[in-house]
Amino acid sequence: MKKNSRFLSPSLLSADFSDLTSAFKFIEEKGSSFVHVDVMDGHFVPQVSYGQPVISSIRKCTKLPFDVHLMIERPENSIVSYIESGADFVTFHIEATCHADRCVQLVHDAGKKAGIALCPATPLSAVEELLPFVDIVLVMSVNPGWGGQKLIPYTIEKIRKLADIQREKNFKYLISVDGGINQETLEDVLEAGTDIVVSGSSFFRGNLEWK
Ligand code: DX5
Ligand code: ZN
Repeated sequence: MKKNSRFLSPSLLSADFSDLTSAFKFIEEKGSSFVHVDVMDGHFVPQVSYGQPVISSIRKCTKLPFDVHLMIERPENSIVSYIESGADFVTFHIEATCHADRCVQLVHDAGKKAGIALCPATPLSAVEELLPFVDIVLVMSVNPGWGGQKLIPYTIEKIRKLADIQREKNFKYLISVDGGINQETLEDVLEAGTDIVVSGSSFFRGNLEWK
């Protein structure tokens, strides 16, 4: 994962699960770098999506890395099992654990990339100590839990601040943005300094042109 490249990570949440073969074909044809896999536990967010058995099963559908976004409480209890299921990057929420450093270490000990995610209203100061160590910082640009929402404009400022910190301190993390990315908002988030663009509903509707 190199800086100064831009990566598309389509969110499977908006795929047609009755025809995953076509969904993965579409993902690969559109120049995607990763597949974004949203895990929801019905506690951190109200809905339940899929977990380890489903991830293991769909792992064989593509060679693209799995960018797993854990929207689950107490990720320290199951983070290793998501790696065993096939996650290449594991991103957990700072709001979901008081053991964030342990989570990062567990992911790194398994030789994988660790990401930290922030809900829209969570300030960057909440993850300040971790910034030198993480591989990805995921800025939620909508409230987590559902696809198809509108981007919350103030989150773009958070991307910009993260990009400034990264430049000033020479940190290696990539900035990922998740939620409400469509053709109109894409330019704004890229201009602010996003490295990884997650897109679900617009991508699968065929409304996101990626160059
Ligand atoms: C929302 C998920 C997202 C979601 C994005 O909680 O984390 O990855 O699938 O969907 P869109 O692009 O439709 O906002
Ligand atoms: Zn996500």
